[in-house]
Amino acid sequence: MILRLAFIGFGNVGQEFARLLLMKRKWLVSSKGVDIEVRAISTRSRGTLLSNRGLDLERVLEELKANGDLRQYGSESVDLTPLEMLDKCGADIMVELSPLNVDSGQPAVEHVSFALQSKMHVITANKGPIAFAYDRLEALAKSRNVKMRFEGTVMDGTPVFNLVEKTLQGCEILRMEGILNSTSNFVLTEMFRGRDLTDAVKEARSKGIAEADASLDLEGWDAAVKITALANVLMEAGTTPNKVDRSGIMGVKPADIDHAKEKGKRLKLVARADRTDTGVRTSVCVEEVGCESQFWSVEGTSSALILSTDLMGDITLIESNPAITQTAYAVLSDLLSIVEWMRTDGS
Ligand SMILES: NC(=O)c1ccc[n+]([C@@H]2O[C@H](COP(=O)([O-])OP(=O)(O)OC[C@H]3O[C@@H](n4cnc5c(N)ncnc54)[C@H](OP(=O)(O)O)[C@@H]3O)[C@@H](O)[C@H]2O)c1
Repeated sequence: MILRLAFIGFGNVGQEFARLLLMKRKWLVSSKGVDIEVRAISTRSRGTLLSNRGLDLERVLEELKANGDLRQYGSESVDLTPLEMLDKCGADIMVELSPLNVDSGQPAVEHVSFALQSKMHVITANKGPIAFAYDRLEALAKSRNVKMRFEGTVMDGTPVFNLVEKTLQGCEILRMEGILNSTSNFVLTEMFRGRDLTDAVKEARSKGIAEADASLDLEGWDAAVKITALANVLMEAGTTPNKVDRSGIMGVKPADIDHAKEKGKRLKLVARADRTDTGVRTSVCVEEVGCESQFWSVEGTSSALILSTDLMGDITLIESNPAITQTAYAVLSDLLSIVEWMRTDGS
């Protein structure tokens, strides 16, 4: 089977996923009977490529490394908007890896919607579509008999959505709580070690952990979008990020850290989703946790999620200090889920 891919967004995650595709190409062919052809790549400022014979991924990566731009690639360089590109590329799967917009999820929601409407499967690591428009997009995917997968939106490649869908069938998720934002957790960990907030944020930026606009992390937006995505998919919450009762770590003072320390506690930014009589309540706020908490030893850029279920009790997932490869792996695992679905239910 040949699967034709189109990318919208080709930054850190897109390029790492391309490297994974090159690395796993032989395995994909020999073990899964799947070969990949990349038909199109769209970026905001580095050009757009379109080829109905398939692009040479190695050359694309070299071009980006050498020139930081795709316009010199050759006659495949075109002047098209992402939707025009999708319309012309004839891809089977659209991979959406543009940046998160916390106000509306756009334009990623539109990209996903257009692809599904055009009967393309969708893989996205962008949380926006899942946090702002999950129900509508999922219904659209079903109506067009295609799949929308998004494992990389929360905890990178750690199986969260796949775990529940594939191995917890019949379990109801009653509650979720998690440490979901790496930057905040890194900054709180460093403050506990005696550094001030500004200094710790600077280091998070220099390590490439923080979003370009670090306020998205520090004001709790990133965690709010993630808990919304989780609640929408796993608890049928039908909610949006602006309904999250949200506060970030910007107001945390060294005195707060010292006060927690005196009581033998640590501060963590905890995201929650709870069922109530009126629906699912979501929140993100700084909490003191003691050594009895599963979150106590989740330090630095690590993240964690506790799923409370009716039949399996509590299940805790911990991701230790992830790198970009984990997110790229999420995209690969989504691709393999689509292949499996095409061979079983999707025909
Ligand atoms: N990085 C991670 O560890 C990680 C982990 C989990 C999830 N994610 C999510 O994965 C997505 C991609 O992350 P990333 O780190 O790869 O981001 P990135 O490095 O900033 O790359 C974003 C890409 O999207 C392109 N782009 C921006 N606006 C666009 C638009 N309107 N239309 C088409 N393309 C557009 C950019 O073009 P230019 O190159 O021209 O700017 C760039 O190629 C984000 O939604 C992020 O939240 C990232």
